[in-house]
Amino acid sequence: MSSVFNCSVMELPRIQSPSGNLTPVYGNTQVPFDIARIYYLYDIPGGETRGGHAHRNLQQLIVAASGSFDVLLDDGVNRKVVHLNRPYFGLYMPNMIWRELINFSSGGICLVLASEVYDESDYLREYQEFKQLARGI
Ligand code: TYD
Repeated sequence: MSSVFNCSVMELPRIQSPSGNLTPVYGNTQVPFDIARIYYLYDIPGGETRGGHAHRNLQQLIVAASGSFDVLLDDGVNRKVVHLNRPYFGLYMPNMIWRELINFSSGGICLVLASEVYDESDYLREYQEFKQLARGI
């Protein structure tokens, strides 16, 4: 069973220079999966919530590429809140974690590295269904 306690913030490599910084991320190195897809959320209006679902199989690394936001994590039993505000920290999330992204700062960009290509059938969008599956009911 996936647990919010397995959702960890990890420090990513940083190549620093006077002309700016760079963070490389490799599949199976910084993240424990092959990276099949990246996507990013941007132009998020103030007060909006993103997420509000879980994934049956997908694993992700979430990075605040710019600005900041909070990630509410829920494994069906326990809950945790993670604040992301640096482009060199990534939140690893295994499958079967309900997540909501809130409190986006103005100009905030959420970069997501995902283990699978987009597949709507991998989504659990009903919280009660997620909770029952997560608890093995
Ligand atoms: P969704 O994952 O629900 O967004 P969020 O979790 O950020 O709130 O996706 C929003 C819409 O975009 C939904 O119609 C599915 C579509 N979508 C794709 O077509 N490809 C993708 O890679 C992703 C992540 C979403």
